Amino acid sequence: MITKAIIPAGGLGTRFLPATKTTPKEMLPLLEKPAIQYIVEEGLKSSLKTFIVITGKNKSVIEDHFDPYPELDAHLALHKKEELMDGVNKIIHASNFIYLRQKEPLGLGHAIWCARHVIGKEHIAVFLPDDIIVNSNTPCMGQLMQIAMQEKCNVVAVQEVPIEDVGSYGVVGIRKQFSPNLFQVKELVEKPRPIDAPSNLAIIGRYVLSPNIFNALEELNAGVNGEIQLTDAIQALLLSGEKVFAYKIQGTRYDVGTPLGLLKANIDMALRHPKYAQPMMDYLASIDREMIVMQGQAQSLSKMKHSSGVML
Ligand code: UTP
Repeated sequence: MITKAIIPAGGLGTRFLPATKTTPKEMLPLLEKPAIQYIVEEGLKSSLKTFIVITGKNKSVIEDHFDPYPELDAHLALHKKEELMDGVNKIIHASNFIYLRQKEPLGLGHAIWCARHVIGKEHIAVFLPDDIIVNSNTPCMGQLMQIAMQEKCNVVAVQEVPIEDVGSYGVVGIRKQFSPNLFQVKELVEKPRPIDAPSNLAIIGRYVLSPNIFNALEELNAGVNGEIQLTDAIQALLLSGEKVFAYKIQGTRYDVGTPLGLLKANIDMALRHPKYAQPMMDYLASIDREMIVMQGQAQSLSKMKHSSGVML
């Protein structure tokens, strides 16, 4: 039985600076919900109940977000707007949260290792809040948990990426393919060069791992980028004889770990949302026209510069 999830949220979020100087990257919104709320919702839909959030400096608003706020509820009740907080309040009632502080952001592997004292002998689910996965019938983590329980193995979620992009991911090499979406893993390589990559199946932010991951992390030295890499620890599990499977996920994945990724995800989700779809389409159509006008103006300005020889 898998009941606990780890959500590492102790990173510095440097790609979003200066916004993330005081606001955790995990709290940046996708439409009206912070990214981490989508993660907890996926966890609950997958029957997970306990969420161990790894935090750090300036992350305490994550704790506030998943804490009751009776004054706000009373205010909303007075104005008949309780539904605005329904989603968060459901989470608060259905889940247990444990917050652990990572003293220094030494990498994803180190963040996971911080949870070693609160995990017993059971397998654990790991969610990276940078990856939001929606639009699948069974929640992504639920798909992984089913395989982990059936096969008594570790499972990593993967997605095909263009070979030139593999250097941004951990990548799996395949021992055996069981179905179009399920593979037994032969090796895992963190951020390979395209020429060294064993495949174009990139590991994305969902894992089910055996509790032996903590020993494997304990024994690791820093890897790529001087950080303790989770991929290296899973490779160590593999070498110690544990089975690792890769599951090609069903659903739409948004990488919200960069400003452009978050922007694209917001636009995409707005276009799928009953309330926002039409206004967003109207807006996109209107900026399209303005862009064309602006580009036209820039072109004629540049022609004028060239014909008159004037330096503006
Ligand atoms: P990322 O590398 O995407 O997050 O780690 P980051 O380091 O915060 O972001 P950048 O690269 O500086 O922009 C994936 C997840 O792992 C967590 C992050 O909070 C993020 O949710 N993480 C990362 C930790 O918990 N601790 C760390 O030391 C590093």
